[in-house]
Formats: sequence, C-alpha cells, structure tokens
Amino acid sequence: MAENLYVPATASRKEVYDSLIPQIEALIGGEPDLTANLANVSAALRQAFGFFWVGFYVKKDHQLVLGPFQGPIACTRIDFTKGVCGHAYTTRQTVLVPDVDAFPGHIACSSDSRSEIVVPGFDPEGNVFLVLDVDSAELNDFHAEDQEGLEKIMRLIEQSAFAQ
Ligand code: SME
Repeated sequence: MAENLYVPATASRKEVYDSLIPQIEALIGGEPDLTANLANVSAALRQAFGFFWVGFYVKKDHQLVLGPFQGPIACTRIDFTKGVCGHAYTTRQTVLVPDVDAFPGHIACSSDSRSEIVVPGFDPEGNVFLVLDVDSAELNDFHAEDQEGLEKIMRLIEQSAFAQ
C-alpha cells in the first residue's frame, strides 16, 4: 500500500489526475472498509489539488449523510431534493456548478465556496449510494478534466466497495 502520495509538480490537472488514479487504486484496492477508503480518497484529493472542501455524502435513512471529508465542518444531512448533492443524486449525473450563487437551491455550507462539482457513485444494482462533493474557493474552477478524473476515481471506489 502506498504510504506517501506523489503529486507531480505541474500546473496540468490532467497530469495530476493521471498520476493520482493508480496511486488511489493501490491505496483502496484490497481494502474492504468503505469509511477508510473514503477518508483516504478525500485526503488524497485535498493534498493533490488543495481544494477548499472534499468529501462524501452517503445515502442513509432516505437522506444524504455527511461521510469522510477534508476541510471545514459541513452540513450533516441533505435531502435528496436539495442542493447540488441532491441534484446529482436525483439526476444520477455529475453536476458542475461554475458559480454556486447562480445555482438555484445550492446549500452554502461555507460562504467561501464559489464553485463545485458533485459526482454520484453507484451500487451494483445501479442505485446511487453516495456522492463525492468537491468545493473550490475559486469561481469556475471545475472543468471536463475534473469530471473525467473524479469519475474514474469514483469507479475505483465502487469496485473496492462492492468487490466480491
Ligand atoms: N453545497 C452542497 C452542500 C455540501 S457542502 O458544499 C460541503 C450542496 O449544495 O449540495
């Protein structure tokens, strides 16, 4: 298991994702504990990119409940119909929000968050069982390369969570 994260010194986010993805695969592959894996993925993403907030909301009791994260304290429970996280849950698609103030229903856990991306994760039956939420203090900070990189990381989480 990797004990140190290697983050290439480059301004290219794509290169950072390309380096990070095999390291995350090594870190969580073979570890069946979901909480441990979500905690390490949150830490790896925050360390690699310096995002303002990185974390997971897990489906529990008909809500999305705060899971492992890195960053300031956050809202504990989100209804499926609320916020960017709820939108990703109900549409079952990644949601990119360039300006959180322009997103109707955005839940402001912190006024320092300016843009956001939320990626759903699926169980083997195809139901969303958690979402990955990444917030930035910069406007318009998330683009296709983030969507692609974070969706690949979510596929690794799904594989590890539901490995036989
Ligand atoms: N902004 C999110 C809520 C979670 S926090 O940003 C950590 C939303 O609108 O769903």
